[in-house]
Amino acid sequence: MSGLPPVIAIDGPSGSGKGTVAQAVAEVLHFHYLDSGALYRLVALAADRRGIPLNEENRLAELASSLDVKFVSSDIILSKEKVTDDIRSEACGRGASLVGALALVRQALLRRQQEFRQAPGLVADGRDMATVVFPDARLKIYLTATAKARAERRHKQLKQKGITAKITVLLQDLQDRDARDESRSVAPLKQSPDARLLDTTAMSIADAVKQVLEWYRGLEIGDARP
Ligand code: DC
Repeated sequence: MSGLPPVIAIDGPSGSGKGTVAQAVAEVLHFHYLDSGALYRLVALAADRRGIPLNEENRLAELASSLDVKFVSSDIILSKEKVTDDIRSEACGRGASLVGALALVRQALLRRQQEFRQAPGLVADGRDMATVVFPDARLKIYLTATAKARAERRHKQLKQKGITAKITVLLQDLQDRDARDESRSVAPLKQSPDARLLDTTAMSIADAVKQVLEWYRGLEIGDARP
C-alpha cells in the first residue's frame, strides 16, 4: 500500500446516482469528496461565457488549466461567482461530455483532481477515477443502472424542481451521452477490470451507500488481519 491517503473511486454513467452515493459515503467516513464531473461542467460553462467553441481543443485546455474555481462546502465558485446551480443544466452536461472527449482538456484537469487526495481520505466520482486519475484507489466501484431507470430518476428530480421534461427526451439525451462517453478514444467510460459492479436499478440510495461502506470496511478488516 502507498503512504498516500486512501481513495474510493466511484465511476459510472450519467444519472446512476454515483454523486449522491459518493457524497454520502464521504460524509460517513469523514473523507473529502471530488465531483470530477463538476470540473468538466465548469470548463463547458466558462467556455460558453467566453464564446469559445467546444471543439477548440487548445483554447479549452488553456481555459481548463487556468480556471479560477473554489469548492466552498457545497457551493462551487467560478471567478468569484456562485455557479452551483448553473453547471447542473442539461446544456452544461452535454457541453461537459463534449469537452471531456478532448485529450488536452483531460490532461489539464488531471493534477487538479489528484490534489483532492488529502488525509484522511477521498471519495471521487466520475468516469475515469479508477482507470486514469486514481489507478491505485483502495476500492473501485462501477455504479450503474439501466438507462430507463436513470431517465425516470432524472425526470422525478426535475419534477421536484418544478421543471417539466419528457422522459423520452431525457432517455435519448442519456443514451447519447453514454455513447459519447463510452466511445471516446481518451479515458472512455468503462468498468475497470478490478472494479466491483454495483447495479442500482432496483436499489435505494441508502442500500447502495450501505454496500459501498460494507465493501470498504471489509477491506480494512482484511488489512488488520495478521
Ligand atoms: O458526472 P456528470 O454527469 O456531472 O459529468 C458530466 C460530463 O462530464 C460527462 O458526460 C462526461 C464528463 N466527465 C468526464 O469526461 N470525466 C469525468 N471524470 C467526469 C465527467
